[in-house]
Amino acid sequence: KPPIIVSELATRMGLKPFRLLADLIKLQVFVAPHQAIEPEVAVKVCEMHGFTFEREKREKGGGVHKVEEVVVEPEAPLDEPEDLLQLRPPIITIMGHVDHGKTSLLDYIRKTKITAGEAGGITQHVAAYKVEHEGKPITFIDTPGHAIFSDMRARGADITDIVVLVVAANDGIMPQTLEAIEHAKKAKKTIIVAINKIDLPTANSMRVKTQLAEKGLQTVDFGGDVEFVEISALTGAGIPDLLELLALQAEVLELKANPKGNARAAIIEARVQPGRGATASVIVETGTLKVGTPFICGPFAGKVKSLINDRGEQIKEAKPGTPVEVIGFDEMPNVGDELVEMDNVRAAQKLADERQLDLRNSRLKMTQKSRMEDLFSNV
Ligand code: GTP
Ligand code: MG
Repeated sequence: KPPIIVSELATRMGLKPFRLLADLIKLQVFVAPHQAIEPEVAVKVCEMHGFTFEREKREKGGGVHKVEEVVVEPEAPLDEPEDLLQLRPPIITIMGHVDHGKTSLLDYIRKTKITAGEAGGITQHVAAYKVEHEGKPITFIDTPGHAIFSDMRARGADITDIVVLVVAANDGIMPQTLEAIEHAKKAKKTIIVAINKIDLPTANSMRVKTQLAEKGLQTVDFGGDVEFVEISALTGAGIPDLLELLALQAEVLELKANPKGNARAAIIEARVQPGRGATASVIVETGTLKVGTPFICGPFAGKVKSLINDRGEQIKEAKPGTPVEVIGFDEMPNVGDELVEMDNVRAAQKLADERQLDLRNSRLKMTQKSRMEDLFSNV
């Protein structure tokens, strides 16, 4: 069989050779771009970029039968055929400083009372809901404003389409407001500012907008391009305008996904629940997640036992953009991992075993490496 040359493999994946070399170094493989790598290594490095690696027999020129070199196929085609794509609900993440009114805003939108039920009124974890605005679905993710939940905000910004930045008009910009701005900017997401609590006599929208401008977020009335709405999550003032703005922005973004493709979902929260075992809140990114779907999620396999929607009802399937609770994990998945549909439970288990072995090996290598470093530092 012909050798697998690094630079050729890189080309097939649409990557720069040095990118692949960097990944190879992570796998402890040290080669030059013109050198060959082992098929097992190629498999791993392809997987890191969402490709599966296969060697394929193909006929080539003049009836000469030849074993073709390397064929890489994307696990999920990056460009889905246009006719398979359907509009999906926008995913909107609500961020902001502690107590600025994120959950209250969502409450008002959902017309329920979540804040009252939360321990001390502080959001403990991420929650996701789907609502309808003028017949069109919108998915919202609530995030906690507390300082220790920084990684949750980073993750929220990642899977989201639009960030709604809630700033209390009586309080102005605070540390976690700034942090949310950073996460949203880093993830290159559109920010819409909701200046909240305008019902309070101490509310000062002008100050909020000035502070935002100082941080590089110039609202439209200041000559910038950041849309904003003044709202009160308490009275509901301005909230219809906010929803309208979100619907408009979503339309501009033309968010589409293929509901018939292989299902993929982002884990936004995971926990162990009595009687249910390990469960996770996910947002379906593409494909349709169904009861009975076998899957892999990071180093764990599983099969969807049941799906529960944001109203606590059992459902049979969840389409792209839908938040849903998944029951059926073998072990508690890692937040930030992706659930990927597999053909069958056996294939899922096999991949899980491989990934766990890889994890153990890399941990072993890490400890060996640090032991070596200790040794040398003592010389
Ligand atoms: P964390 O989840 O802890 O980050 O807080 P949060 O941003 O979700 O704030 P939450 O919705 O829990 O609201 C905090 C407090 O502000 C509650 O007592 C709300 O009743 C109050 N509040 C929220 N919005 C408004 C508003 O528009 N006007 C007034 N007056 N109070 C509000
Ligand atoms: Mg909250």
